[in-house]
This record gives sequence, structure tokens and C-alpha cells, in this order.
Amino acid sequence: MKRLAGKTALITGAARGIGLAFAEAYVAEGARVAIADIDIARARASAADLDAAAIAVEMDVTRQDSIDAAVAETVERLGQIDILINNAAIFSAAPIVEITREDFDRVFQINVAGALFTLQAVAKHMIERGQGGKIINMASQAGRRGEALVGVYCASKAAIISLTQSAGLNLIGHGINVNAIAPGVVDGEHWDGVDAFFAKYEHKAPGQKKREVGEAVPFGRMGTAQDLTGMAVFLASPEADYIVAQTYNVDGGNWMS
Ligand SMILES: NC(=O)c1ccc[n+]([C@@H]2O[C@H](COP(=O)([O-])OP(=O)(O)OC[C@H]3O[C@@H](n4cnc5c(N)ncnc54)[C@H](O)[C@@H]3O)[C@@H](O)[C@H]2O)c1
Repeated sequence: MKRLAGKTALITGAARGIGLAFAEAYVAEGARVAIADIDIARARASAADLDAAAIAVEMDVTRQDSIDAAVAETVERLGQIDILINNAAIFSAAPIVEITREDFDRVFQINVAGALFTLQAVAKHMIERGQGGKIINMASQAGRRGEALVGVYCASKAAIISLTQSAGLNLIGHGINVNAIAPGVVDGEHWDGVDAFFAKYEHKAPGQKKREVGEAVPFGRMGTAQDLTGMAVFLASPEADYIVAQTYNVDGGNWMS
């Protein structure tokens, strides 16, 4: 028996990277998924690879009208939303004295407000439907502690860990489990961008930072998006019914808490 048979999931930022790996894993476990992304062309291409089990939905998590429209479109086309993964996020880096208000606002609008108000819109649907649900937020090891050059992104992921606790406590009475995953360093296009930031601020050669962080992982290498899918399937399954308001590290041993 597939572990998510008959379930439907909305996954934000799923056109590529970790979100796409989650979509693929959910489909393999019998779910139908909405691949929601601001990059609708790539979302469509990714959904097409998953055939009838996936739909592409245009969504900008910084706009309430776009969140509401994406949730409504997903409910209309898939029938309901049993699972939400709040995955869309952006990275930024700068020394503290160079952080701009524009960058702070952009990161917090996408990473924090985007996740909160998407969670809120889906939670309203789940409460109205009366059958509970599973909500998974994407935190990060960056939310566990500060980093000299990554103040804004780290703060945004600490906010996700905190919101996971508050929403988890507030929504479990409706049978909605809110939990989070905190990855470490995961190879992919996201980290290509991170590497470029460090090349600029730490005067490293392209690829050097990526190699260094991979070697520093106790497991011995960077993670892959597929390393995270087991936890994402588990947290969406009935096996996780008694798990509430937690953030799980899936990071090869980078952080212990
Ligand atoms: N890659 C890592 O090392 C790593 C580590 C820890 C946590 N994470 C977290 O995991 C999640 C996925 O990371 P990833 O590596 O796959 O990132 P990624 O950059 O490859 O993918 C992010 C996706 O979000 C989409 N997006 C950006 N802004 C959006 C918006 N306003 N509305 C809707 N979609 C938007 C992008 O188009 C993209 O498809 C993020 O929350 C990230 O912070 C990643």
C-alpha cells in the first residue's frame, strides 16, 4: 500500500530543487500534487514530467491574491488539500553593515510572510473541510544559529521554526499537524547561488565554498534533495499523527538539537 494514496498536496516553490524532489516522492507514494511556483514555465515542465499526477499552479507567495487564487485553483482541480509543504524561499548574504532594508523586506516577504499566509489559507480550507491535514514548513540549519554573513536568511529560518511551534500548537485541535524540516547543505541550483555569494564576500574561487561545506558535513558530503524525501513523506503520513510543532534536522549530522 502506498503511504500517501488518495492524498493531495500543495507544494510551493516546487518547480525545481527540493520542492520538486518532494513532488516526485509524493507522486511515487500515490499522492497527486500541485507544483506551485512563481516560475510557471518551469512548474509546467516539471508537472508534465509527472504526467496526470501533477498540476502546475502559478503562485507568488508575497501576494495574498496569488496565495488565495493558488489555493482555490488547487482545491478546484485536485478536489482538496490534505498536505501543504511551505517550501518556497530565497537566500541572501551580506555583512551586517551592508544589509539593506530592501533585501530584508524581500527575504522576509517570501520566506516568512509567504509561508505564514500560505499556511493560513490552507489551514482555513482544512478547518472548513473538517478532516485535518499535514503542514510541513521548510526551515534550515540556518535557523538554528546565526552566521556572520547570513543574518537575514538565518533570521527568516529562525522565524519559521518559531511559527511552526505556534501554528502547531494552535492547529492540532483541528487535527492539523504542523512540523518542519531543517536541512543542512543541499546541492542544487540554490547552493550554486550561495556559492556565488561566498565567492564574493570571502574571496573564494567559484565552487570552493561548496566543496568546503560538503567536506565539513559529518556524513562526508553535501545532501541531495532526495536525502530529504523520506522525512517529507513520513511527516505527511498517518505515522506522524502524534508529532506536533517539531523541527527535524536532516543534515548528515551538521547540527544536533
Ligand atoms: N539547498 C539548501 O542547501 C537548503 C538548505 C536548508 C534549507 N533549504 C530550504 O529548502 C527550501 C527549498 O530550497 P531549494 O534548494 O530547493 O531552493 P531553490 O532556490 O532551488 O528553489 C526555490 C523555488 O522557490 C521558487 N520561488 C521563489 N520565490 C517565490 C515566490 N515569491 N513565490 C513562489 N515561489 C517562489 C523559485 O522559483 C524556486 O523554484 C527553501 O525553503 C530553502 O530555504 C535549502
